[in-house]
Amino acid sequence: MTEPLKLLVCCTGSVAAIKIPLLLQQLKDIIPGLSIKLVATQNSLHFFDTTSLPESVQLYTDSDEWDTWSKIGDKVLHIELRRWADMMLIAPCDANTMAKISGGICDNLLCCVVRAWDLAKPLLYCPAMNTAMWEHPLTGKQIAVLEGFGYIRLGPISKVLACGDAGLGAMSEVADIVNSVKDKIGKVK
Ligand SMILES: Cc1cc2nc3c(=O)[nH]c(=O)nc-3n(C[C@H](O)[C@H](O)[C@H](O)COP(=O)(O)O)c2cc1C
Repeated sequence: MTEPLKLLVCCTGSVAAIKIPLLLQQLKDIIPGLSIKLVATQNSLHFFDTTSLPESVQLYTDSDEWDTWSKIGDKVLHIELRRWADMMLIAPCDANTMAKISGGICDNLLCCVVRAWDLAKPLLYCPAMNTAMWEHPLTGKQIAVLEGFGYIRLGPISKVLACGDAGLGAMSEVADIVNSVKDKIGKVK
């Protein structure tokens, strides 16, 4: 029997994280047999109810990194997750996490997995931020760095944002993210 494809979804503290339950459900519906784990930053947890996630999706937060380790020989969660996954999806990827992963900072579970990521495996990220943040010159520099690592960017798109501003910065539509994951993960094995 062939092993299921394994997707590590990571979400950050953008308001677009309200779509995480929908995104996970659609990934499960549209990619049969897909195994999903979710890493959520502390700030992302403000935006969705963890009890509304599909039952089969295991959720990891920063505290799990330390709860599962007490002595040499114990498993290190961020390394276990990078080994487990065939592909990583960061959706939404907020300005803070984009800056951190482009600079190599690894001060939470999500950023540690990214820092240890096997660049031979696909990493897709979906920026989501206010238009003013998106248009800041730092954004272009960070995108260039991430592109250099081979990370695949999806979006952002233009619309009226949650803060009331209209313009580029919104996370790509869930259906487009799911289709991109389906396309990329289908080529992994
Ligand atoms: C209501 C609210 C909505 C936010 N939405 C966004 C957003 O869409 N994009 C973004 O880059 N930051 C947004 N932020 C700011 C992030 O939550 C903040 O930068 C946080 O430190 C991100 O932490 P994380 O990257 O560890 O999840 C928002 C903050 C609040 C209070």
